[in-house]
Amino acid sequence: MSRYRIAWLPGDGIGNEVMAAARLVLDQVGLEAEYLPGDIGWEFWRCEGDALPQRTLDLLQSVDAALFGAITSKPAKAAEAELNPELHGKGLVYRSPIVRMRQMLDLYVCLRPCKAYAGNPLNFREGINLVVFRENTEDLYSGVEFNPVPQELSGLLEKISPPFSAFKDLPNDEVAISCKINTKKGSAAIVRAAFDFARKDKRKKVTIVHKANVVRATDGLFLDEAAAVAREYPDIPMDSANVDAICMWLLKNPDNYDVLVAPNLYGDIISDLAAQMVGGLGFGCSGNIGRKMAVFEPTHGSAPKYADQWKVNPIATILASKMMLDWLGEKEKGQRLEEAVATVIKEGRVRTYDMGGQAATMDMAEAIGEKLSVLS
Ligand code: IPM
Ligand code: MG
Repeated sequence: MSRYRIAWLPGDGIGNEVMAAARLVLDQVGLEAEYLPGDIGWEFWRCEGDALPQRTLDLLQSVDAALFGAITSKPAKAAEAELNPELHGKGLVYRSPIVRMRQMLDLYVCLRPCKAYAGNPLNFREGINLVVFRENTEDLYSGVEFNPVPQELSGLLEKISPPFSAFKDLPNDEVAISCKINTKKGSAAIVRAAFDFARKDKRKKVTIVHKANVVRATDGLFLDEAAAVAREYPDIPMDSANVDAICMWLLKNPDNYDVLVAPNLYGDIISDLAAQMVGGLGFGCSGNIGRKMAVFEPTHGSAPKYADQWKVNPIATILASKMMLDWLGEKEKGQRLEEAVATVIKEGRVRTYDMGGQAATMDMAEAIGEKLSVLS
């Protein structure tokens, strides 16, 4: 009997290729698992009008963890145009399946470690070791959006919010509103996850990222909750900074930062910045973590331009697999896998095109697999 049940969701574009690479190293590291393929992605949107079918959600609820490749996302109108003709005019609206998955399974933590592995020619600077905790279900990702704005809503806003008077004379179809919804519970939960991690991993500081000087209601709430949670962790230094300033300071003094925690959209943005500082798309990995299950993925997208060429860097997905091993409690295997990745990067003999080399996706996986066989 396999020890774990893992949902296997390659998705679109290069998803399949990077997942094949991850599978090779997971087998090599000796994880005892049954891998259960799940349907997700553009094909299911086009044919069924749902990129994340209910059967996949059911599968996700029945497994220990999931590994996910990548998904193609297109704006609403372009997505509708590609629907199977018999699904047109049914009011189907495309929403990113990964965002829906995070919300429907309450995967409230988005954990994004960004480590500069020694010798990676793409490192912005050596020694960077940042961890971003991104709130994963609320904020500007709430999906509560209006374009055009219904009359009831603009009428109400005019009555109760004086700043809305600046927009009140515009026709409703010339205004769009996206609601940024943040809760005390959601804010406290992500900040607590960041502090728990900092304590366990002996990190030097937690930085709260916000824009509370302007976005007073929602980021004010986030910051207040963060301060309250921080008081429960007197042993861990904390500071806070505006999201725009953090983008400058992270580049200027990366060593001054360690664990960063942010509401959803700011976390999305700063985690791309931090990933670029340690090698970019080929190295950014994420865990979408809930109370009972978690979905691990590379941070990059489906890169349709590179699909079927088997040349993209699989390290992001391999590092996502390492995160999955840690989360499952397979620490020794996770550590071994990371060591194998670090060794291959350091030796510099096998490099994919983004790293200035010519190795193919599976060459990289095999090189990491070989190190694993030596380390085991
Ligand atoms: C990410 C991505 C997604 C997001 C997209 C693909 C919807 O950018 O995981 O960071 O915005 O969360
Ligand atoms: Mg992103």
